[in-house]
Amino acid sequence: MEKLVSSWYKNKTLPQSYIFPPETRPGNLIVPTCKTIPVIDLDNTVGQSRTRIVQQILKASQEYGFFQVINHGIPEDLMYQSMDVFKEFFEMTAEDKAMLYSLDPESSCRLLTSSVNYAREKPIRYREVVATYSIEAKKLGLRILELVAEGLGLDLGYFRGKLSESMLLSANHYLPCPDPSLTLGMSKHCDAQLLTILHQGDVNGLQVFNDGEWTGVEPLRNALVVNVGNTLQIISNNKLKSVEHRVVTNSNCVRTSVGFFIAPSDDSIIEPAKSLVGNAAVYRAFEYKEFLLHFFPNFDNNDLVMERFKLQA
Ligand code: OGA
Ligand code: NI
Repeated sequence: MEKLVSSWYKNKTLPQSYIFPPETRPGNLIVPTCKTIPVIDLDNTVGQSRTRIVQQILKASQEYGFFQVINHGIPEDLMYQSMDVFKEFFEMTAEDKAMLYSLDPESSCRLLTSSVNYAREKPIRYREVVATYSIEAKKLGLRILELVAEGLGLDLGYFRGKLSESMLLSANHYLPCPDPSLTLGMSKHCDAQLLTILHQGDVNGLQVFNDGEWTGVEPLRNALVVNVGNTLQIISNNKLKSVEHRVVTNSNCVRTSVGFFIAPSDDSIIEPAKSLVGNAAVYRAFEYKEFLLHFFPNFDNNDLVMERFKLQA
């Protein structure tokens, strides 16, 4: 239960175990907010407008590995309802949370709301809202992947089927921190999956490593942050970049974010798309589950993860 909720942030000092070694501390928290991470309007993906959007997505995925989307088709109400049910969950008492939370890391669902063993469903409408949001986020992800496929010159349906069969929804809750310069909400990492769609709410915190420095991704109302995962970088044979990012904390307010990840099924074979390798495939073929086995223990060392799947030069 200690793990689920902690009230230590109400104390004046940061517990020793949360302090990062000096080289990975965020230190200076005033980083430039990156106005250059493109904001792409998905309103009209037909005709000439589609061609322009495809180019914008490709360019952003090559240069930054990140972009934001607006007019993405997920209703605003649904975005904020799903954010609210997660906020409601995180505000519940430790006992109530523990009743819903599965400690089994193998479980496909770590947060189980059940009206059978729980008289009043809490958070209210959790299942309905989260299910509807997941369906919409998956639709959006597939739509973006189709635009990516088009940009890469692959069949439009290249990422459909097993390559995008799994999805993961993960809500993060960052408490106010007594000293944000000494710690991180989430340490630097790349996402393993194909594509991530993040609703970061309205509180700053997400930073992307770009051009040798950390830059903040500005929270924009109704926008979603999209980033290329390691799997997409590999399939694109390094044409697209999976970029390191991290989350810094702040001392005044809680930050909640909702990440939606589209991933291959465990038994999918991942390899650079044949038409993109020319005469030099950068990576070998492997099963996605092998990737995950290596990814999680090396979460904070992405070069090491990727190295293992490279073909020898
Ligand atoms: C992640 C992630 C960012 C955030 O869950 O992989 O990078 O803002 N989250 O919570
Ligand atoms: Ni991430």
